[in-house]
Amino acid sequence: MKNLLLWMLAGLMMTACTSQPKSQKKESPKKVLVLYFSVTNTTKQLAEYIQQKTNADIEAIEAVNPYPTDFEGTAARWQEELKANTLPEIKPLKANFDDYDIIFLGYPIWGDRYPLTIKTLIKTGALNGKVVVPFATSGSSSVKQSVVELKKDVPTIQVADAFCVRSALMDKLPIFVDRELISLGLIEGENEVLADFSEMREPTAEEIALFEQSFADYPRMNGTKAASVASRTTSRGTDYKFIGENNGAKMEIYVTKEKGDTAPYFTAVDR
Ligand SMILES: Cc1cc2nc3c(=O)[nH]c(=O)nc-3n(C[C@H](O)[C@H](O)[C@H](O)COP(=O)(O)O)c2cc1C
Repeated sequence: MKNLLLWMLAGLMMTACTSQPKSQKKESPKKVLVLYFSVTNTTKQLAEYIQQKTNADIEAIEAVNPYPTDFEGTAARWQEELKANTLPEIKPLKANFDDYDIIFLGYPIWGDRYPLTIKTLIKTGALNGKVVVPFATSGSSSVKQSVVELKKDVPTIQVADAFCVRSALMDKLPIFVDRELISLGLIEGENEVLADFSEMREPTAEEIALFEQSFADYPRMNGTKAASVASRTTSRGTDYKFIGENNGAKMEIYVTKEKGDTAPYFTAVDR
């Protein structure tokens, strides 16, 4: 707990799906609750991974009237609720939040924010003053905007860390999640100390090709151009931070190319 509190006091918070140097070690056992909302079970999968690794208690946040599981159906219901300014009712939760040192709060990213079920939970006051680690899954977005929103909606919340995993990268959970759990002192291990990214520069033709290949299976990014790039070498390969442009909108796109004959993939987009 000491490390965690020191971290919070120092204002050291991670909000993107990107890797940063961390190397805290496990101290005394902490009581952890993993709380999550999930419509198509992607966030559930991530929640269960965290639960298993940390030996935590786990509970799902469920809408009384469940959301449809197809994208269009969920989006339509969510838009209706936004328009009507109503919040979905959620089933009562069994966990007593005061019993826990840390609450992992998981959700899918909707419109770069968290779903309204999380707003409903916030309205109950259950998160006031709690130490929370938001975690999310998304198609591409980072968790950043939702953390800004969370801190605005619950000013007394203590956000200890935050991370998200793209739904297309669920087979890489140990890579993305273990370092967060190590840095929070929840599991044993030593994190690689990662170098800073280089200065931004014009991308080479090879880097542009790699950039485009990284979202070949994600059509929403089609047409995005790489304006500039920074990179760093890691033990696994090379990380890139591209500044991309699409229809006048600028964004940061994080791409990893692992060593060997592997396809590059993007890990997050900060819009
Ligand atoms: C209504 C709706 C809005 C979404 N908005 C975004 C978004 O803004 N950015 C993004 O990267 N993914 C977005 N997604 C994709 C989900 O975040 C992603 O599929 C997530 O992993 C689903 O989690 P779940 O299976 O736990 O419900 C959206 C999905 C839905 C249904």
